[in-house]
Amino acid sequence: MNSVNSLNSHLRDLSDMADLAAIRQSVEDNLSAMLDDSTSAPRNLLNAMRHALLAPSKRIRPLMVYLVAKPAGSLVEAALRVGSAVEMVHTASLILDDLPCMDDAQMRRRKPTTHMAFGESTAILGAIAMLSRAFGILAELEGIGGDIRTRLAAILSEAVGWNGLVAGQELDINGQAELLEPAAVENLIWLKTGILFVAAAEMGAVLRGATEYQVAAVRRYATHFGLAFQTLDDILDGSTNPDDIGKDVKKDECKTTLVSLFGISKARQTCQHHLAIADAALLETGAMIEPLKVLAERLFAKARTA
Ligand code: IPE
Ligand code: IPE
Ligand code: MG
Ligand code: MG
Ligand code: MG
Repeated sequence: MNSVNSLNSHLRDLSDMADLAAIRQSVEDNLSAMLDDSTSAPRNLLNAMRHALLAPSKRIRPLMVYLVAKPAGSLVEAALRVGSAVEMVHTASLILDDLPCMDDAQMRRRKPTTHMAFGESTAILGAIAMLSRAFGILAELEGIGGDIRTRLAAILSEAVGWNGLVAGQELDINGQAELLEPAAVENLIWLKTGILFVAAAEMGAVLRGATEYQVAAVRRYATHFGLAFQTLDDILDGSTNPDDIGKDVKKDECKTTLVSLFGISKARQTCQHHLAIADAALLETGAMIEPLKVLAERLFAKARTA
């Protein structure tokens, strides 16, 4: 079998599987390939980007793209690439979130933060490089029509920019005085975290050619998944040992969160409330429902005990 046929058969196998571990491995392989030695980037910058991107992560966003896209045939490669684009944006946001002028963190993904390992200037440049490259990956998707590629880029751009993740981070760092009501905190959580989950899931749906009805269900599903996710993250921020969560603990102790407003037990309830809505919406998405359920089950098991 020549290498193209062997690749095609590998991709067909992938399209049949619903095994999370195998999909996750394909995500990892795709991410490594994005930053392989063939790039002409300065080695220090390349090493910093690899340090941030290839460190141990749950890879929830690329998994969500894949499981909502439910790809077969040539769409498998496209779904993995779209997932890599989202993961690059997410990783860039983590590098910036950890900087001394933001959350001033020492550990990320079980490693020293990128600025600790490579210095602030290289960390910032690495984040900008990955953020920019993400849109190139979408523009260059093979076998995907121009209208779809444009729609994917628009969804990601809107989610990341000043109406989205960046707005959320600005409010989180500089708008704490305005977080007087639960609705304002929920809006912050939506912007800094929820909106990227919705973009990931919606991009998967667009790639699959989902109906507008399914896209609406996908958005509802990911919105509530994302709100539950950041609530869990805020609960876990109160952990005592950084090794338990692979990153600094008690970094957001002085900030307003659902935990600081209502206490841990109400935050757990809020988490479960959003998960129930997400679960109901999932049934109408046309996505790979079982692996998405397993993913949430594993992830949120901690919400009951933390
Ligand atoms: C951390 O995201 C930042 C938040 C939005 C809470 P993840 O918990 O998905 O981090 P990784 O990708 O697994 O490192
Ligand atoms: C960050 O939220 C969300 C991002 C956009 C990166 P946090 O500041 O709570 O994320 P962690 O806990 O550092 O991962
Ligand atoms: Mg933060
Ligand atoms: Mg942080
Ligand atoms: Mg946090």
